[in-house]
Amino acid sequence: MIEKINRLKEEVECATAATPEAVEELRIKYLSKKGALNALMADFRNVPAESKREVGQKLNELKTFVTEKINGLKEQLSAGSDLEAASIDLTRTATPFPTGSRHPLSIVKNDIIDIFSRMGFTIAEGPEIEDDWHVFSSLNFPPDHPARDMQDTFFVTRTPVDVLLRTHTSSVQTRVMEKTQPPIRIVCPGRVYRNEAISARAHCFFHQVEGLYIDRNVSFADLKQVLLTFAKEMFGPETKIRLRPSFFPFTEPSAEMDISCDICGGKGCAFCKGTGWVEILGCGMVDPNVLRSCGIDPEVYTGYAFGMGIERITNLKYKVKDLRMFSENDVRFLEEFESAR
Ligand code: DAH
Repeated sequence: MIEKINRLKEEVECATAATPEAVEELRIKYLSKKGALNALMADFRNVPAESKREVGQKLNELKTFVTEKINGLKEQLSAGSDLEAASIDLTRTATPFPTGSRHPLSIVKNDIIDIFSRMGFTIAEGPEIEDDWHVFSSLNFPPDHPARDMQDTFFVTRTPVDVLLRTHTSSVQTRVMEKTQPPIRIVCPGRVYRNEAISARAHCFFHQVEGLYIDRNVSFADLKQVLLTFAKEMFGPETKIRLRPSFFPFTEPSAEMDISCDICGGKGCAFCKGTGWVEILGCGMVDPNVLRSCGIDPEVYTGYAFGMGIERITNLKYKVKDLRMFSENDVRFLEEFESAR
């Protein structure tokens, strides 16, 4: 009897199964009512009384062994099929991963930078918290200029010197000219702040790109050509520009530039108030006082500067009517612009 038990144990130990059906066959062969184990159990009756204890124990052990073996084979097979399924693509995400889209102001800022970098301009940046010197005094603002007024400027502290949130990116001109001798050819993108009531047409912060070119023999004609090239690149080759005389403390002469209305093509519409033109930037020849205050000799060097609002250009390109849309982070609005460019 003991020998039979041992033989059956060896047999089961060597058993293998490649499919669930084969495992089931093994189960039937050994564990079912008519299986090998029950046949042994039936023989148990004939075991002499003195061996019953030993044989009974062996039989029980065998039953546990066979049950575990068959369960083990089952598990192996199901683990194998899991692996096979997973090997299709282990890195695939279960649901599509939303990638977001670029902010319209970033798209336009990058477009502006791209156009000017193709014309040899590099990028310069400066701090948003500035002092009076870089935002106003160095740029030829007289002490009583209204732009310094509390109504326009956010002050951080007023003693011992005025520290404020920059109201324009022209402050970066000064920072670069103080450190670098010409030739200088830079564009300065950045955020600016003004103490304005928030409405569809005004916000307490917005974005500008400043441009500056200082070298020997830089003329107003150079400025005009660069700005014309910019307008055509930004708004299309049919775009026309118009320069109107204007005033800024840091440029002389100064001008404001209009482009032919993108919407009506210059015929006149509600957007351009029937004029066919829309203003997009301020510009001029850098005032000799500004060069001098930054340590550049105005007898040797001349230069031009320009500054534009990124929101303004974005409004023209994408027809965004309300400035507040840019800072509300409404994903339905943001999703309208192309993703990563
Ligand atoms: N800083 C001006 C503003 O914020 C824009 C500007 C005008 C910049 C003329 C310039 C310039 O460099 O020459 O409105």
